[in-house]
Amino acid sequence: MNILVTGGAGYIGSHTIIELFEQGYTRIFSIDNYLNSKESNYEKIEKITGKTPEYNNIDLTDLESTRAFFKVNKIDAIIHFAALKSVPESVENSEVYYRNNTLTLLNLLSCMKEFDVKHIIFSSSCSVYGNPDQLPVNESTPFGVAESPYASTKQMGETILKDFCKTNVNFTAISLRYFNPVGAHSSGLIGENFSRRPNNLIPIITQTAAKIREKITVFGTDYNTDDGSCIRDYIHVIDIAKAHVKALDYQKQLNTTNNYDVFNLGTGRGTSVLEIIHSFEEISGKKLNYTLGDRRAGDVETIYSDNAKASSTLKWNASLSLEEMLKSAWKWQQSMEA
Ligand SMILES: NC(=O)c1ccc[n+]([C@@H]2O[C@H](COP(=O)([O-])OP(=O)(O)OC[C@H]3O[C@@H](n4cnc5c(N)ncnc54)[C@H](O)[C@@H]3O)[C@@H](O)[C@H]2O)c1
Repeated sequence: MNILVTGGAGYIGSHTIIELFEQGYTRIFSIDNYLNSKESNYEKIEKITGKTPEYNNIDLTDLESTRAFFKVNKIDAIIHFAALKSVPESVENSEVYYRNNTLTLLNLLSCMKEFDVKHIIFSSSCSVYGNPDQLPVNESTPFGVAESPYASTKQMGETILKDFCKTNVNFTAISLRYFNPVGAHSSGLIGENFSRRPNNLIPIITQTAAKIREKITVFGTDYNTDDGSCIRDYIHVIDIAKAHVKALDYQKQLNTTNNYDVFNLGTGRGTSVLEIIHSFEEISGKKLNYTLGDRRAGDVETIYSDNAKASSTLKWNASLSLEEMLKSAWKWQQSMEA
């Protein structure tokens, strides 16, 4: 099978390419325009696996360049990671986010029809649930009010795919809703790009431990949780990567009457911000400078996943512990400075 990974130089894309090579896929293509990654990541993939994907510098919002790729490369399935992903940036420049995250998908769908590419896997997010009324959330939990334009683009992406599948019954699509991917490859060679100022907890923690940031602010300590801070479902990026290989296998079981499906990818465990801070201190031996602050607008109080569907249908379960997530994230931070 020839697999196209869009956003293959990015955080989850690069870990997924490694996993695909390790699971025996031999022809992997990547498209990226390096908006949030570096082409040199492919060399790191080669160091780890001994293999390099066939990579292309293409902006997927440009239909003609995207068509030119499909004209010369026969692709069987697409794993579509390419997107912009910063929540605060999406609030500031919503039109950039709507344009990039929807046009990339729409152009791929046009090419799928024109060049007969039958399968697509889409990177969605637990942000589609908004602030849920019931926990844990499962795939039947309805979309909530999107807390940001970024979250809206994920809801739109899923809706576009669902509608596409209704009328194009010979194609299949799967949306994977990631919870909070963290951690890095155990080699310390690849991990999340922190060149834009990160807004998510783990990079903020590792940057504070490395003295790149002065301190961490815990936004809100009066939530209705045991220690008052927000709760999230952190999941190792390698577990997320492995789920894509399972989803590629499962895609073959979809058929003309059932050609679209959705899965949550989390661990099913919620961990609070303060618990993460204390676990990191224990694992790294570093004392973290943190202050307790007010709630931040747009934050969901608690969210974690019901994984039963991914477990029974994809035969996938997250296997890596919080300790492994934090250790690998810390190793990645240290290797970036070395
Ligand atoms: N990391 C997370 O916390 C998280 C959580 C839920 C969902 N997701 C989704 O997973 C996917 C991958 O996320 P990631 O963390 O690897 O992000 P990332 O920024 O590391 O990777 C995305 C890649 O897509 C590329 N890209 C963006 N727009 C492009 C375009 N128009 N043409 C070609 N390439 C383009 C970027 O250069 C980057 O390499 C995204 O769709 C993201 O929204 C991520």
